Amino acid sequence: MSDAGELDALLQEDRRFRPPATFVDQANINDRDIYESAASDPEGYWSKWAAELDWFEPWQRVLKWSPPHAEWFIGGRINVSYNCLDRHVEAGRGDRTALIWEGEPGDARTFTYAELHREVSRFANVLRSLGIKKGDRVTIYLPMIPEAAIAMLACTRIGAIHSVVFGGFSPDSLADRNNDAESKLLITADGGWRRGSVVPLKANADAALEQSPTVQNVVVVARGGDLTEQTAVTMKMGRDHWYHDLVAEVSSSCPAVSMDSEDTLFILYTSGTTGKPKGVVHTTGGYLTQAYATTKAVFDLKDDDVYWCTADVGWITGHSYIVYGPLANCAQVVMYEGAPDTPDRGRFWQLCEKYGVTIFYTAPTAIRAFMRWGDEWPKKYDLSRLRVLGTVGEPINPEAWMWYHEVIGGERCPIVDTWWQTETGAIMITPLPGLTETKPGTATHPFPGIEAAIRDESGEDTTAGYLAITKPWPSMLRAVWGDEQRFRETYWSKWPNVYFPGDGAKVDEDGYLWILGRVDDVLNVAGHRIGTMEVESALVDHRAVVESAVVGKAHEIKGESIAAFVTLKEGIDGSDELLTELRTHVSAKIGAIAKPELVVFTAELPKTRSGKIMRRLLRDIAEGRAIGDTTTLADPEVVKRLQAMHEDEEG
Ligand code: WTA
Repeated sequence: MSDAGELDALLQEDRRFRPPATFVDQANINDRDIYESAASDPEGYWSKWAAELDWFEPWQRVLKWSPPHAEWFIGGRINVSYNCLDRHVEAGRGDRTALIWEGEPGDARTFTYAELHREVSRFANVLRSLGIKKGDRVTIYLPMIPEAAIAMLACTRIGAIHSVVFGGFSPDSLADRNNDAESKLLITADGGWRRGSVVPLKANADAALEQSPTVQNVVVVARGGDLTEQTAVTMKMGRDHWYHDLVAEVSSSCPAVSMDSEDTLFILYTSGTTGKPKGVVHTTGGYLTQAYATTKAVFDLKDDDVYWCTADVGWITGHSYIVYGPLANCAQVVMYEGAPDTPDRGRFWQLCEKYGVTIFYTAPTAIRAFMRWGDEWPKKYDLSRLRVLGTVGEPINPEAWMWYHEVIGGERCPIVDTWWQTETGAIMITPLPGLTETKPGTATHPFPGIEAAIRDESGEDTTAGYLAITKPWPSMLRAVWGDEQRFRETYWSKWPNVYFPGDGAKVDEDGYLWILGRVDDVLNVAGHRIGTMEVESALVDHRAVVESAVVGKAHEIKGESIAAFVTLKEGIDGSDELLTELRTHVSAKIGAIAKPELVVFTAELPKTRSGKIMRRLLRDIAEGRAIGDTTTLADPEVVKRLQAMHEDEEG
């Protein structure tokens, strides 16, 4: 959470930006009454959105709320793949572009809705041929290639539950997720491109599969180029199959199954406050309704838009705003495999110009990097087609917001700062681009139909405290996979029947919500959630380590970076080699995103008399700040010694 001083500065932000009149006139939503009418009849309001989708059977009841369990559109039958593909083809829009994909090396592929429909149907038949049935779990561990979207949609077509694992996660992380979900099938690729290097996904998958007993079959996509040779892929007979061999053998007709609105659609693992990530469970009808509605309303999506969200499908943003929300809207979606600075720092802007991107959705961490790289990169390209800009993943600092507004948006594009989570499934707090007067740094107001508040520990309304979601919403998580207790404890135990997202927030005098960041032991590193306990477990797993404490340290680009305080076993010296080894160890255990930037060896950790590690003090030390109150420490000397050591190191 930000410091009080920083916060006051934020709240004094008095720059305001009204949407241009020309934008307002054409906006999908430009009538302020929507807030009122949604609040007075939320069920009627959400039903209207749901009715824009195609249902095989209508629902009988909109909402059943038995806290903490919600059901939406009860009795309704629907299929997500059908809504993203078939209905557009049936409406005569099969020739419309669905996916415009570009690989990092510059290779490109596009799919019309008819083509995507055929590919998805084929792969759905492949899944069936491998024995996958409704309700079975399928892990998807792919780079950002079209087959990632195809595999997701193929699962939803037959009612299989996908669990997408970000391609940057390690074999151990992949195995943990396979095992928790008891996946029967793994879909991976020979490799993918990232910043000029090849990520050897199949080799990682092979390592994970040694500890994933439930996985019976593996489908391997050949990414193209010579990656198969480069990554020295070995195929295990009977278990591993090439994607291209399998799809060649099946028909391209596979009717979408009728799913109950509350059937599970997917599981997505996300970090929490324990060492073990939790499987957030989303269901079908409500999830699609809110993903669809928010895509259309928040991005003001129109037929002639070219829409690009730069997230990875491994995160919830990729699920809801690369695949399901845009395709349900029949959008023309850009998908890019690689890094923003390959081959050079103008890559994103070159893609915007090349494909005529009109809606662009990215993370504040990326915006801060672009700022640092300099205006000359975006200035080289024609960005005049851009008309809506979005951000997600962490609070955006006003400076980055202003740069985005001026340099990328040419001062004409409304910016939507969207707050939401893996658990919320879709956008919850956001400006509406044709209605909201924005201020740099605030996500502004709940989306129509969403009710949020700021509460204190005891559940009283306050102006600065915890963000709370006070009413159920269609795309809310339904469960933590296999762990009802964790579901209840994490989200529903702070206040009765009110959802606790784990974020701090403030409301200003105009009623704007300012999200301040996590209040639990979850870090937000470059927009990605990492549990401190996960990193601590990885460190303690190393033979030299007795104990560790991990905290977030403010970082100019990433928002936060990871600082680890480590106590070594007796007789082991804290050498530079060991330091490197520990960082590599964490990266190998979890993934490169969890690699600590700073490792400090310490004889002891500062603890309270009851044995609790004083993380606040460690954060102060990591950030080189004056140390606050240490009177509750069991041994105040520990901090002084630590501080001196850290200063030595920095010096
Ligand atoms: C943070 C990403 C401030 C927040 C969709 C949340 C934000 C966590 C914003 C969820 C925003 C996301 N302003 N903070 N606009 N958007 N966050 O599950 O701390 O990867 O709890 O979902 O990111 O991260 P997750």
